[in-house]
Amino acid sequence: MLTRREFTARSAALMAASGLRLPLWQRALRPMLAPETPVQRPLLLGVDYYPDQTPENLWEEDARMISEAGLTNVRVAEFAWSLMEPSEGNFDFAWLKRAVDILNKQGIAVILGTPSAAPPPWLTEKYPEVLMINSDGMTVHPGGRRFTCPTNKTYRKLSLSIATEMAKAFADIPGVIGWQIDNEFTLQPFGRCYCKYCREGFQDWSKQKYGTLDTVNQKWGTAFWSQIYTDWKQIPVPLPSNGPANPGLALDYDRYQSHANASFSSEQLVMLRQHCPRHFVTTNSVGAPFDTLNLRELFHDLDFVSDDNYPGFAAMFMQGEITPERLAFASAIGHDSMRSVKGGKPYLIMEEQSGKAGQPSFSAQPHPGQLRLWAFQAVAHGAMGVNYFRWDTARFGAEEYWHGLLNHDRSKSPGFAEIVATVKDMKTLGREVLESSYVAEAALSFDQDCDWALHIQPGHNQLTYQSQLTEWYGAVAGANTGTDLIHLDEDLSKYKAVFAPVQYVLTQPQAENIRTYVRNGGMFVAGFRLGVKDESSQIVNMPLPGLLRDVMGVTLKDYVPIYSEKVGVAFEGQLAGPAGEAVLWADLLIPQSATILAKYTGPYEAAAITINSFGKGKAVYIGADLDTTNLNRVLRTLLGMSGSKSEFAAAKGIEITRRRAGRHEWVFVLNHAPESQKLSLPGKFKSVLGQEHLDGTLALKAYEVVVLQRV
Ligand code: GAL
Ligand code: ZN
Repeated sequence: MLTRREFTARSAALMAASGLRLPLWQRALRPMLAPETPVQRPLLLGVDYYPDQTPENLWEEDARMISEAGLTNVRVAEFAWSLMEPSEGNFDFAWLKRAVDILNKQGIAVILGTPSAAPPPWLTEKYPEVLMINSDGMTVHPGGRRFTCPTNKTYRKLSLSIATEMAKAFADIPGVIGWQIDNEFTLQPFGRCYCKYCREGFQDWSKQKYGTLDTVNQKWGTAFWSQIYTDWKQIPVPLPSNGPANPGLALDYDRYQSHANASFSSEQLVMLRQHCPRHFVTTNSVGAPFDTLNLRELFHDLDFVSDDNYPGFAAMFMQGEITPERLAFASAIGHDSMRSVKGGKPYLIMEEQSGKAGQPSFSAQPHPGQLRLWAFQAVAHGAMGVNYFRWDTARFGAEEYWHGLLNHDRSKSPGFAEIVATVKDMKTLGREVLESSYVAEAALSFDQDCDWALHIQPGHNQLTYQSQLTEWYGAVAGANTGTDLIHLDEDLSKYKAVFAPVQYVLTQPQAENIRTYVRNGGMFVAGFRLGVKDESSQIVNMPLPGLLRDVMGVTLKDYVPIYSEKVGVAFEGQLAGPAGEAVLWADLLIPQSATILAKYTGPYEAAAITINSFGKGKAVYIGADLDTTNLNRVLRTLLGMSGSKSEFAAAKGIEITRRRAGRHEWVFVLNHAPESQKLSLPGKFKSVLGQEHLDGTLALKAYEVVVLQRV
């Protein structure tokens, strides 16, 4: 059993080592404990556990088995509201305290979830006004989860009340180390609410943002279709209206909904900081290409980012051929974006796939080696810990098909031994590796304004920001030089190249930041539809690419969505190679100061790709929506031209990442292929987990992960 003193030391050290803000009392305590107490805080290698769904007579056995499996923490209670508050204002935490105590006696630390993602039936029965209204104007009914409004004051009050009672009850309970607020904000089929409370919230938000109705009318262009507002109360939400919504209003509504969820979370955060200053606070979400929330806003004041990672589940929804590398990129983009939300700070996997995943249908069975590969991929991309979802497999409820570490009959799952071995290896890597920094030479813009605005007006019925982002990501990340997913107003100077697919909305500060970056020697590579709109979603009143015309050194002659015609692309100069195709879109470029790298071959006469020298740097405009093969070749070539080149020549399906702490660097080599592959090593390395010294060639088994260090 952890003594209170050990617990205190652990949590103090945990926060200190992960760079978390230390409360005053801990700052005072640390020097006092340091000389006699070895730093022994748990690494967050845990499992999501549901005592609320498990008979109490099994809790001891569970805790013992979780501990024997080498797991160090659990996350509990995020869906247990109806047990913790069986009727309004009547709280019962005794059962949860017993569970926490049993876990603590086995040395298992506890992350508590506040339960606002799923209110109990008494609540929605008594307060039906808290129910969400979806984008068709229909009520979202209770019975699932996330069916409530993020703005509604009653729901906020009741959510804060249960969370506060929990916080008070568990602030000093040994073993509790932190909190997850709510669960996956907005990540259900209906990610937006359109109810009357949200409408009022949106009106207030608009008032705060714009100050006067004149400004609102001007920014949204309400002269169009007779929409001039003369009272804040007239402002609608974008519900069906027999014609598309005003694009400026619709984009602001996305921003408002994102803000409403973030401020919902903040209410609980402020309270937790007050009652549980010793605990860390986070929430869980998923990364790119999913983008219903501005995660930078959501995580701004939280201690670290938590990510949910289900590669096998994601594969169920992938279209086209699912190759090992496509599957690898689909998870890698999520990791890279989540790590980037807090500027590269190590993040936690709060839910990691542990077997077949599925709600109404099962995903494929992970092959031996894949569970290890997926968890290590997270660590390879900057995770500091992994929590598996979930301990047992539910025998009832909507997720009976979602497999945990135990089967329905409580026997060990097919992946159990692999997970135990993986956790052991992660402990061998230890804190130094798990909390080191990820090395990224390139950056890709991932901008929710562009995503939302393009969703509102795609411009071509098959064009999506998500698919463009994913394709560009695969091309850039495949170079194995490390990729951050950034906002273009962040510091760009540390990157050799910055890529921006469909940067359709471009703000003045972003344009200025890019101009400075290129002028100082960076390489900026933009895709078609660059700088078409300002942040109010109005089209700029200047020749395209608008604010960046001087940097790109081109002017658009026209822009062309492509439906049935064939538009060829012929490459030249540094991009010379086999001809390609523009698939959905062609921006027709006229170089001003830029040099041509590709031209369209019928029916349009114009440049398709250009490169411009600007200051000490280069700016490349890719006007064509290039076919995948050429997009890969072109982006990879440009990355090479920027000076970013991996020293490894990895075959397809082998992913390589680097993490660094001080002068130490670890190279993660991940074979995503279902067969063995070889990798030539540029020098002498040792395998950190195997300890053997390697010279020449590394032979990787199917799905094998090797962590290397240069010797
Ligand atoms: C996550 C969610 C969990 C569980 C899991 C498996 O998205 O946070 O509560 O539902 O997926 O479906
Ligand atoms: Zn609402």
